Amino acid sequence: MNGQPNHATHTYRTAISRFTTGVAVVTTTTPDGDAGMTASAVTSLSLDPLQLIVCVGNTLRTRAAIVEAGRFAVNVLGAGNEDVALRFAGRHPDKFADIRLRTEHDVPVLEVAIAHFVCRLGAALPGGDHTILVGDVEACGFAEDADPLVYFGSSFGRLCDSERHAQLQYDWQLALAM
Ligand SMILES: Cc1cc2nc3c(=O)[nH]c(=O)nc-3n(C[C@H](O)[C@H](O)[C@H](O)COP(=O)(O)O)c2cc1C
Repeated sequence: MNGQPNHATHTYRTAISRFTTGVAVVTTTTPDGDAGMTASAVTSLSLDPLQLIVCVGNTLRTRAAIVEAGRFAVNVLGAGNEDVALRFAGRHPDKFADIRLRTEHDVPVLEVAIAHFVCRLGAALPGGDHTILVGDVEACGFAEDADPLVYFGSSFGRLCDSERHAQLQYDWQLALAM
């Protein structure tokens, strides 16, 4: 690992896991079929032109498929979609089984996504053991009033709704007093 001691890698992984992110499924399609992977390394890059980046491991099947297709979609997952995130992060033989897709795009867009971005691959830049995929955004959309799936400290979570939290605490204290 480039001569770096393992504890440095471990500390880095733990430290960077404190940078809270959303969770997306990055998808594409080739003549061999659909490919997709869970990704948290997704960032907006530019507004003019509209561009985003996704950092993808160099050896991943989805990376090869995106480079071959020259197109991909970023599907932002909502709260409660941990099962979808785990499916696309694992070695499921058919990751797309039972996954409902929207029909208006030429790359797979998940119906459950709370936002989606359909991209042309603008560049594939070297980034150590990952590749920085620059996506030129051709179409995007979002769901109103959607709660995101959140990733922090290598665990899934959700945003805390302080009003709901306060109500639950009140109900709980009321129940204890009875
Ligand atoms: C929450 C989460 C976030 C992830 N984010 C990334 C990421 O940003 N980039 C990456 O290369 N792999 C990421 N992974 C790992 C890939 O999803 C995993 O290696 C996947 O199996 C790759 O699929 P493929 O081999 O079919 O391409 C993440 C996994 C999880 C569970």
